Amino acid sequence: MKKLSHLLMLAAAAAFIFTACEGPMGPEGPTGPIGPTGATGSVGPQGPQGEAGTAGCIICHDNSQNIVAKSLQYENSTHAMNHNAPYGNRVFGTIYPAGDCAKCHVSQGFLEFQATGTIVNAPYDEPQQPNCYTCHEIHNTFTVDDWALTYADAVELELDGATFDKGSANQCANCHQARGVSPMPEVGGANVNITSNRWGTHHGPVANVLLGSGLYEIAGTVTYPTVAAHYNVADGCVSCHMATPYGDLGGGHTMNMKYDVHGTETLLTAGCTGCHTDPVTMTTTLQTEVEGKLETLKALLLTAGIYDEANGRNKTGDFTADVAGAYLNWQTLAEDRSLGVHNPSYVKALLDNSIAAMELVVAGI
Ligand code: HEC
Ligand code: HEC
Ligand code: HEC
Ligand code: HEC
Ligand code: HEC
Ligand code: HEC
Repeated sequence: MKKLSHLLMLAAAAAFIFTACEGPMGPEGPTGPIGPTGATGSVGPQGPQGEAGTAGCIICHDNSQNIVAKSLQYENSTHAMNHNAPYGNRVFGTIYPAGDCAKCHVSQGFLEFQATGTIVNAPYDEPQQPNCYTCHEIHNTFTVDDWALTYADAVELELDGATFDKGSANQCANCHQARGVSPMPEVGGANVNITSNRWGTHHGPVANVLLGSGLYEIAGTVTYPTVAAHYNVADGCVSCHMATPYGDLGGGHTMNMKYDVHGTETLLTAGCTGCHTDPVTMTTTLQTEVEGKLETLKALLLTAGIYDEANGRNKTGDFTADVAGAYLNWQTLAEDRSLGVHNPSYVKALLDNSIAAMELVVAGI
């Protein structure tokens, strides 16, 4: 008991000492245990609707095989397979302005040229052949609107300023048209001095041939037709070249008019029905006839001194408007490569009149 009261006294004294003169503060004690979790708060108000997730994607990326069908056809097209994009991805110093080839041969160049009217970014890294993104507005709105064509407004043709206006085929005419020709002979006009041995309308003058415009309508006995029958086909190029496909060989996104079926060259006739009952025979007949006329004209141009056998192009020098013009017709119709189909009566008239005029020239040599 005595011991206890002693202890109590000691404690009281210690308490007095501590309160009377405070010592330095001790180290902070350990954190106490976490208290019980509070009750869950009430649900907040619904926020604004977020960006669409994959809903827009499924419109196209579904299991309909639509994209794969078009992609397989496209992979079998010259657009995919001819590989001239890197070749056309060039800057030619002062002869051709930068990007002059890229505007038709490189996807990036086409889109830049159509959007701005010029090309400043060629040559491009990783130049692309014409592809889905060249012709469609893919991945812009992520709706069906993205199937819209990139440039399907009417096209003012470079050669003579004529208007090509044929719905979705306008997309094609942006690239498949004659390039400007300089000097351009005037029918019945002065001699022309040709300085380049690559003079002419280039490799893809189809829009001009289909429309029947801008070529050298040399004088002659055959009348030039006023109606371009195949330009009048509903969707122009698209109605024939993109008609219901034969697998991934012809039509659709292959855009091929002829394809091979077990060794037999076959014409895609899906776009001809309704107007012709036997398009195959008609086409064979016309193409054989036109091929013959092209050969005849070429031989005359060789004798007339403008065709160069060595490289299949033109010679340079001074030529009468008719000799230059007849060569221009031959070069353009040979490069058109439909052998008359794009504008049957017009092509035959151009060839017949050119042949007759060159026969007179050659007879005088
Ligand atoms: C209007 C149709 C359409 C819609 C909508 C669409 N896509 Fe695509 N997508 C395409 C086409 C066409 C391609 C190219 C296919 C090809 O090159 O073979 C493609 C390609 C792709 C590719 C392959 C890579 C590439 O860029 O080529 C991916 C990934 C893709 N899409 C994702 C999406 C996503 C994610 C969405 C939605 C946010 C979407 N797509 C919406 C049509 C569409
Ligand atoms: C107005 C558009 C356009 C321009 C500009 C253009 N090309 Fe082409 N080129 C085409 C088209 C379209 C074809 C495909 C024609 C066809 O196969 O019927 C083609 C085909 C070619 C071919 C392939 C010929 C063959 O027989 O396979 C070469 C090579 C070529 N172009 C080079 C060039 C070069 C080089 C330039 C620039 C100096 C150029 N192109 C400018 C539209 C153009
Ligand atoms: C050279 C141009 C070109 C290229 C390249 C191209 N397309 Fe097309 N595509 C067209 C044209 C022209 C149409 C027909 C449009 C019309 O008549 O309105 C079309 C139609 C379509 C349609 C039907 C659209 C609809 O409204 O229902 C689909 C799907 C399509 N293309 C997918 C593709 C895909 C996938 C690729 C790439 C593998 C591709 N296209 C490449 C020109 C092109
Ligand atoms: C961006 C320019 C461009 C557009 C748009 C375009 N093409 Fe082409 N097309 C070309 C080029 C370039 C080639 C040749 C490819 C190469 O040589 O690399 C070609 C090749 C072709 C060929 C094959 C010719 C051959 O030698 O076998 C056909 C057919 C064709 N295009 C039809 C069309 C049709 C139809 C359209 C419209 C639906 C179209 N093209 C739209 C540039 C274009
Ligand atoms: C009336 C149907 C029809 C129309 C319209 C049409 N084409 Fe053709 N096209 C043909 C036929 C048929 C051939 C010859 C195919 C062959 O002999 O290999 C051909 C040949 C071609 C060739 C030569 C390469 C090849 O595939 O043989 C090109 C390139 C071409 N057409 C592009 C076009 C373009 C671009 C347009 C529109 C400006 C167009 N065509 C309009 C039916 C048509
Ligand atoms: C909208 C109707 C129409 C369509 C579709 C059409 N054509 Fe024609 N075609 C005509 C007319 C009209 C003529 C006569 C034109 C002329 O003499 O210039 C013609 C003439 C021809 C000729 C020349 C006949 C001759 O004896 O001189 C050939 C070949 C031809 N078409 C092939 C085709 C092919 C191949 C297709 C399909 C890929 C086709 N056409 C689609 C209306 C059409």
